[in-house]
Order: sequence, then structure tokens, then C-alpha cells
Amino acid sequence: MTETAAPPPAKLIAFEGGEGTGKSTQAARLAERLGARFTFEPGDTPIGQQLRRVLLDPEAGEGMHPRAEALLMAADRAQHVAEVVRPCLEAGQHVVTDRYLGSSLVYQGLGRGLGVDEVWALSRFATDSLEADVVVLLEVPPAVQADRLDRDLDRLERAGDDFHERVRTGFGELAERFGWVVVDGVGSIDEVEARVWAAIEDELA
Ligand code: TYD
Repeated sequence: MTETAAPPPAKLIAFEGGEGTGKSTQAARLAERLGARFTFEPGDTPIGQQLRRVLLDPEAGEGMHPRAEALLMAADRAQHVAEVVRPCLEAGQHVVTDRYLGSSLVYQGLGRGLGVDEVWALSRFATDSLEADVVVLLEVPPAVQADRLDRDLDRLERAGDDFHERVRTGFGELAERFGWVVVDGVGSIDEVEARVWAAIEDELA
């Protein structure tokens, strides 16, 4: 009797980074290459779309307290995991998400000063402990980021310079602490895609 090997379990791959790092483009490219479900946070469910509006609209979210911001991000993540991520993984499909709990650790934990461990606990509750198998952090220098940000700024993008500086340095710190795969995001889309693939190919085998 021949034994058939179980198919490799589906993986959750998260892209993280600041605005204008090209992570949305790269996440979509990787999803296409893998035949994975491409998804994003905040907002990739009907309930999430409403949360995203409140979170990012400068008027809808006027005066939002940092703890409310953290809870709404976590609510979006809970819905996203329950409705999109877990069902895909259980059906055997890889999932590539443009942002996941790493963004909350950096933006709310460090940027807003709520604390990485506290925000981690909140996200663990939200996801029922579903962690990404691979986290890719795309890094580009601030000047390149600024050049790529040519649209109207949302509520978080309008937060002060100190906040953005804490976010910028926070990504690097947490990459080291949590073993995220750091990829240089400077170059053409094809060049960066090749770099991403070279960095994670083995982890997906
Ligand atoms: P989006 O337009 O999706 O930005 P980007 O193209 O930069 O990914 O906006 C998402 C914003 O929400 C972005 O400023 C980061 C922020 N964010 C958090 O602060 N915490 C989170 O947990 C997530 C998922 C996003």
C-alpha cells in the first residue's frame, strides 16, 4: 500500500511596513505567484469596511482615543480572521495579507504608546491566537516613502511627526525582536518581488 503524503498545510504570510513602502503591490504579487488569497487590514470584510471608514476618515474618526483605535483595529482583525483568513487556511489555500497584527504592535503599541505586550494580548484575543507563519517587512528610506505618498492623507497619515518617527523605528525594532524577514524595498517592482521571493521561498516549502 502506498502512502500519500498529506498536502503541506496552508500558510499565512503577512506584509508589514510603513505607508509608501510598496507592500500592497508586493503582497498582491506574492499572492498571485502562490495562488493565495490576497487580503488586507483594515477593511476586507463588510463589517471591516465600516470600521475602516471610522478608523481612517479624518472626520469620522475625529478625537478618537488611542485605546478606541486599538480596539477598532482589533475588531477588524477578529472579523477578518473569522470570515476570511481562517476559512481559507482550513480549505488549504495560502493567505497573503497586506498588514496584520504587526501593524497594531507598531502603530498602536509603539506609535500611540499603548505598549507592545498589551496590544499583543488584544490581538491574540482578536485572532484566537492565529499568528502569521511568515512576516515580511519591506523597508525603504523615509525620502522614498514620502515620494510615493502622493494622495490625500488619511487620519493616521496626518498624525504628527513624532508618531511617524516612532512607527518608522518601531518596525525595525520589532522585526529584530520577532524574527520578521526584512527586505529592502528600494528598486523596481520586479526587483523587489525577486528579493521577497528569494527571502521566503524556503520558508514556504
Ligand atoms: P491603508 O490605506 O490600508 O494604508 P497602507 O497603504 O499604508 O497599508 O491604511 C491603513 C492604515 O492603518 C495605515 O496608516 C496603518 C494603520 N494601521 C494601524 O494603525 N494598525 C493596524 O493594526 C493596522 C492593520 C493598520
